[in-house]
Amino acid sequence: MHEPLTRLRRSVLFVPASNEKALKKSAALACDAVIFDLEDAVASEEKAEARERLRAFLSGPGRPQCEVVIRINTLSGEWGTEDLLAARAVKPDAILLPKVDGPRDILDAGAALDETDAPRSLSLWAMMETPRSLLNAGPIAELGRDPAARLACLVAGTNDLVKETGIAPGPGRTNLLPWLMQLVLAARAGNLTVLDGVSNDFRELEAFARECAEARGMGFDGKTLIHPAQIASANAAFAPTKEEVEEAKAIVAEFAKPENRFRGVVSLNGRMVERLHLEMAEGLLAKAKQIKEKGE
Ligand code: COA
Ligand code: MG
Repeated sequence: MHEPLTRLRRSVLFVPASNEKALKKSAALACDAVIFDLEDAVASEEKAEARERLRAFLSGPGRPQCEVVIRINTLSGEWGTEDLLAARAVKPDAILLPKVDGPRDILDAGAALDETDAPRSLSLWAMMETPRSLLNAGPIAELGRDPAARLACLVAGTNDLVKETGIAPGPGRTNLLPWLMQLVLAARAGNLTVLDGVSNDFRELEAFARECAEARGMGFDGKTLIHPAQIASANAAFAPTKEEVEEAKAIVAEFAKPENRFRGVVSLNGRMVERLHLEMAEGLLAKAKQIKEKGE
């Protein structure tokens, strides 16, 4: 399985910027990243107040140590530009753009950040949640190859996709799968991380664990979450298993033998193992190490 060496993004929790209690709680949670939301989780009447609350919170001592992302409103709408400037001022790791339709949306946001002399380390993430975003997934993801474009991560916006297309997701999200798989493919083409959409039924933890396991099998790096109760499942599902770690170590050990030094392919427990498997094993072990270093 593909394991890009990047920041861990197994569990990425949405926290509404309008919810003071949730903001305070966010620093104590074991998620890999937090997305502070100024968009759909905040009512129109509360936009300005939520923006100010978030600014104050992230400038204070309660700011989480994990990766901090801020989802702003669309730049073409009433609040987006002020959101972007406020976000820029509190130095998040990334700004998440909602309702991206095509590469132009990423380029415009990048240009707006360049105008503020934002450091290159400030990334853009893209919500992939409109029909156009899915049709344009290739050209959008291609921007991941250009560091000047800042694009680092694609996020499946499954609730909006359901709304915009009129589909019923179906049991096991059957009807969404082709689009989700397309998104994973696009992300890999652009060297981006890719996160699965949220699961709305936050009390159904068994079904959630299954959905996480499926998402990992589909190639997602992690899952976006709406509730703290979902964090543990996502962290477990998107981490290498003990068996995978053992197998990866065995592959590394096999290729490290002097007699295999110049061999492209070896046999291990009745299976053909190539150097591409060695690369995968090394990636998996690096990820396991990152998780261990996090204290898990
Ligand atoms: N982030 C941080 N803390 C959260 C949280 C979140 N996303 N969701 C719930 N909590 C906190 C609650 O504030 C509560 O804290 P307390 O124990 O100090 O009172 C605790 O976790 C338990 O919450 P619970 O009562 O089970 O849920 P709720 O009814 O308060 O909230 C939701 C349910 C769905 C409204 C809430 O989880 C939420 O707003 N999620 C994020 C929604 C969002 O951002 N959507 C946009 C992207 S899809
Ligand atoms: Mg949305």
